[in-house]
Amino acid sequence: MERKKVTILDLQEKKQRGEPITMLTAYDYPTALLVDRAGIDIILVGDSLAMVVLGHENTVAVTMDEMLHHCRAVARGAKYPLLVGDMPFLSYQVDRREAVRNAGRFLKEGGMDVVKLEGGQEMADTVKAIVDAGIPVMGHIGLTPQSISKLGGFRVQGKSVEAAKKLLADAAALEEAGAFSIILEAVPDRLAKLITERVKIPTIGIGAGPHCDGQVLVIHDLIGLFDRFTPKFVKRYANIFPILTQALEQYRQEVLSGAFPGREHSFTMPDEVYEALLRELE
Ligand code: KIV
Repeated sequence: MERKKVTILDLQEKKQRGEPITMLTAYDYPTALLVDRAGIDIILVGDSLAMVVLGHENTVAVTMDEMLHHCRAVARGAKYPLLVGDMPFLSYQVDRREAVRNAGRFLKEGGMDVVKLEGGQEMADTVKAIVDAGIPVMGHIGLTPQSISKLGGFRVQGKSVEAAKKLLADAAALEEAGAFSIILEAVPDRLAKLITERVKIPTIGIGAGPHCDGQVLVIHDLIGLFDRFTPKFVKRYANIFPILTQALEQYRQEVLSGAFPGREHSFTMPDEVYEALLRELE
C-alpha cells in the first residue's frame, strides 16, 4: 500500500478502529530517518532532548531556539510521520499571546505539523488559544517533567482517588479545549484505561500500561543510547552504547597500530604519475 503522510484525522480513525498508534521521539536527521523508515505514525521532537542529547539534568533548561534547531533537522529527515514539536518550559506558561506566537514558530520555523505542551485544566485556556490560531495541540498529563520540582521527582502520578479524579478532569478539560490527543505519562494502567475510554481523542501512553490508544518512548531509551538511568516503563530493544564504544575503541587501537587506514581506504596514485612527480621534485 502506498504510504501517505499521517494526519490528526488518521489518528482519530485509528482510535475508532481500535488500531494502536505508534510514536517515538527523534532529535536530528539520522534519528528522524530511522523512525520514519520503521513506519512509525508520529515523531515527537521532545524536550527530553535537553537530557538525552544536550546532557542537562532535566528538561527545563532547553530553549525555544534549541528546540527549533532540532525540529528543522528532524523535518529534513522525516517524510511520513506526523511531526510534533514539544513546547519548552516557559515558552507557553507566561502569557497566552506568547504561547500562540511560540507555537506558531514550531510550524513556521521548525517545520512541525503540531505542538505539544504539558498541563491539564490550568493550561486549557492556553490550549484553546493555540487551537483557535489554527495550530493543533497535543496535551501531556500525569508526570509532566517540566514541573519536576513541584512533583518532587520522576514518580507515578494519579495514585490516590483524589489525584486520579484530577487526571480525569485534566483529560476532559484538554479535550474540551480542542486538543487532538493526550500523552499520559507514568499513570497507573487502570486509570489510563478509564481516561482512554472517557475521551474521544486518542491517548498515547508512556508508562501508562497497554490500554492507551498508542504508545510513545524516548528513542535513546529504546536503543540504549542514554546511560544515566532507565525508567521502569522502558523496554530496551537494542543496546547500542557498548557496540558504539567497542567500535570507537577498535578504531583507536587500529590507528595506533597502523592497521587503519589500509589500502582499501586509501586513494592510490598511478606509478607513472608518482614517478613523474618525483622527477619534477629532484
Ligand atoms: O520530551 C519527551 O520526550 C516527552 C515524552 C516523554 C512524551 O515528552
